[in-house]
Amino acid sequence: MDDISLEENKEKLRHDKEYKKVENENLFIEPIHYQKFEKIKTHIHCYTYAVKSLGDIKGQKVLDLGCGTGWFSVILAKRGAVVEGIDISTTAIEIAKKRAIINSVSDIVRFRVMSFYNLDFPDEYFDKIIGLSALHHMSDKKLLCNSLYKILKPYGKVVFNEPFGNSTILERLRLFVPIAVQEEDRSHWNEQVKYEDLEPFKDKFYVECEEFQFFSRLDRIFKQKWIINFLGIFDVKFLKMFPFLKKYARDIVIILRKNNI
Ligand SMILES: C[S@@+](CC[C@H](N)C(=O)[O-])C[C@H]1O[C@@H](n2cnc3c(N)ncnc32)[C@H](O)[C@@H]1O
Repeated sequence: MDDISLEENKEKLRHDKEYKKVENENLFIEPIHYQKFEKIKTHIHCYTYAVKSLGDIKGQKVLDLGCGTGWFSVILAKRGAVVEGIDISTTAIEIAKKRAIINSVSDIVRFRVMSFYNLDFPDEYFDKIIGLSALHHMSDKKLLCNSLYKILKPYGKVVFNEPFGNSTILERLRLFVPIAVQEEDRSHWNEQVKYEDLEPFKDKFYVECEEFQFFSRLDRIFKQKWIINFLGIFDVKFLKMFPFLKKYARDIVIILRKNNI
C-alpha cells in the first residue's frame, strides 16, 4: 500500500469509529445555526469568519470537503447553496444522508464517500470550496492543491478553518498547565496546520490568512463564557496591534483565491 492509501485507511478507520458514537444523535439543525451570521459584528471565532469569507453563496455550487456528518453542508444549503459533501468515512456519509432528509435539503445536497486525493468532479465545477478542520488531515498538500485548482471555477475561492499549531513551544508549554488534557487532543497537536503547510498553495493561489484566539485560548482555565468572549474581542484588537504574535494563535482561516494574481 502506498503512503496515501495508508493515510486514507487510517483516517477512515479512525473517523468511522468516532462517528459510530454519534449516529443516534438528533440530526435536526435549528434555524439559529444558519440565520445567525448576518448579526455578528466582530468575528471572534474562526468558524463564523470562515462562513463570512465564503461570501454570498445563493445559487452557487459549493463543495464541503471532509463534510463529516454533514451538519455544515446542511447549513450551506439552508443559506442557498447547491452542495456536494464528501468524506472518506462511510459512517459519516450514511449519517449525513439521513441528516439531509431530516432537514429537507436532500434535493440540493449530495453526499458521497470520496477522498480528498481523488476528487471526482468536472473541471471548473465549483464556485466555492470549504473545509472545516479538514486540511490538517491531508499530508500531501501539493496533490490537494492541484485537484482543488482543477475543480474550482476561475475567480473561485477555497476557505479552510483549521486548528493552528505553528508554535511548537506553545504546544510543549500546554503540558505544564495543571489541567487535564484529553489524550485525543494531545495526539492531534502535531497534526495542526503550520504556515509552512501553505507554501504548496502559493504556486497556484493567492493565499490569505486570518488568525484567531490568543488569550481566549485559555478556555481550559477560564470556564465562564463571558470571560472567553471578552478575551476573544480583546484578541482581535491585540493581534492587529501585534501581528508578529499571530503565529501563537490557536485557530486560522485560510483563503485561497484562484486567478486573482
Ligand atoms: C475533524 S473532521 C471534520 C469534519 C467536519 N468538517 C466537521 O467540521 O464536523 C475531519 C474529516 O475529514 C475526513 N477525512 C480525513 N481524511 C480524508 C480524506 N483523505 N478524504 C476525505 N475525507 C477525509 C474525516 O473522515 C473527517 O470527517
